[in-house]
Amino acid sequence: MKTMNINTITLIITTAFLVLLSCLERCSATRGHSWRKLKATSSTFNVLDFGAKGDGHSDDTKAFEDAWAAACKMEASTMVVPSGSVFLVKPISFSGPNCEPNIVFQLDGKIIAPTSPSAWGSGTLQWLEFTKLNKITIKGKGVIDGQGSVWWNDSEKLPKTKPTALRFYGSDGVSVSGITIQNSQQTHLKFDSCTNVQVFDITTSSPGDSPNTDGIHLQNSQDVVISGSTLSCGDDCVSIQTGCSNILVHNVNCGPGHGISIGSLGKENTKACVSNVTVRDVTLQNTLTGVRIKTWQGGSGSVQNIMFSNIQVSDVKTPIMIDQFYCDGGKCRNVTSAVAVSSIHYTNVHGTYTKEPIYFACSDSLPCKGITLDTIKLESSQNSNVPFCWKAYGELKTEIVPPVDCLQRGNPSSGGITSNKESSC
Ligand SMILES: *[C@@H]1O[C@H](CO)[C@@H](O)[C@H](O)[C@H]1NC(C)=O
Ligand SMILES: *[C@@H]1O[C@H](CO)[C@@H](O)[C@H](O)[C@H]1NC(C)=O
Ligand SMILES: *[C@@H]1O[C@H](CO)[C@@H](O)[C@H](O)[C@H]1NC(C)=O
Repeated sequence: MKTMNINTITLIITTAFLVLLSCLERCSATRGHSWRKLKATSSTFNVLDFGAKGDGHSDDTKAFEDAWAAACKMEASTMVVPSGSVFLVKPISFSGPNCEPNIVFQLDGKIIAPTSPSAWGSGTLQWLEFTKLNKITIKGKGVIDGQGSVWWNDSEKLPKTKPTALRFYGSDGVSVSGITIQNSQQTHLKFDSCTNVQVFDITTSSPGDSPNTDGIHLQNSQDVVISGSTLSCGDDCVSIQTGCSNILVHNVNCGPGHGISIGSLGKENTKACVSNVTVRDVTLQNTLTGVRIKTWQGGSGSVQNIMFSNIQVSDVKTPIMIDQFYCDGGKCRNVTSAVAVSSIHYTNVHGTYTKEPIYFACSDSLPCKGITLDTIKLESSQNSNVPFCWKAYGELKTEIVPPVDCLQRGNPSSGGITSNKESSC
């Protein structure tokens, strides 16, 4: 017992000595360095120190690239975009995968997109991109402005492909908070193939008539929480696409916009899988829909285990909607295959609508099943359209206002998710 204690003490002393020695070496090594070098060993990289002008006219792209290159090399570094300046930045990729983890992009200033066609070449899918990073945070009080109005009118001079303003791809541990993204050319904020995503306290802002300006768009991403945010735009406030599961959206305000949507899914006969989505404590004003699931005919796969609760709507055209006949422009033939829709729960949906309170249009061959409605009260000052259902099956947990007589009780006698191999995800 005693010898072990002495050995342990010896080990501690030796270790402490070695640590001290290596520290002394490092300290003396830095002594001879210039101020500039010393600065580079600190972990903060301000774009102004890399030549950014921040005057709203000069091209600051190179300064951003250089600041990123430096930040990328150091674990837990911070790239700073300071307040009080406006930075014009061309399409740029803040790219891993060879970056150290835990980088913070501290955005307190304003970043604006170029509006001249020459800056966009033949077109690009995104303006500001973060890819293949392990733990990346964007935070601050800053603004990202896509200056999208020049794109919204389909100017002939600009490329056909409209960019997403801010996109994350292939990253794990993404956090976006505090910032405002406005006047996006197309989608404001997109996550593709990301895991463990946190979005909170952000604002997206574009006019209600700006085309395809989704607020937040999720695709092939898992374990995502979006909360405490105000989303106004010209398309879906939140759009949840194929490959998404374990998604929580809560304490979000939407409007103007098209509502909170799962889909559209299954376009051009594709397979789509979405599961485990909860949308709760959400308010929507003057939106096209409230909470919606939309799928194209001809698709396969499934949407299942979806919970919408504590949804407050005001002057929403159609607060509750499932549309398995989604057809955005053009003509769509009726076909038998469909993305199966099951286990969809609505609890505590209140407020006012302008067109119809509830609209469930489900596939003839794959009816919707497991729809539950619990404590719903929707009113309209303009009309008294009754809920619409087609091939929709489920259960009323309470009395619903207005009454939903069209929902068929129980399960469909044939069809439905269990009999369709294509629907397995
Ligand atoms: C786009 O069109 C709208 C409506 O026609 C107009 O009010 C707006 O000024 C146009 N914007 C640009 C940048 O041309
Ligand atoms: C969805 O949730 C269920 C129950 O919590 C879980 O068993 C399942 O693995 C989840 N699905 C996905 C795709 O994560
Ligand atoms: C497609 O099917 C739906 C539901 O059965 C029906 O209401 C609609 O008229 C059909 N459309 C065409 C073009 O046949």
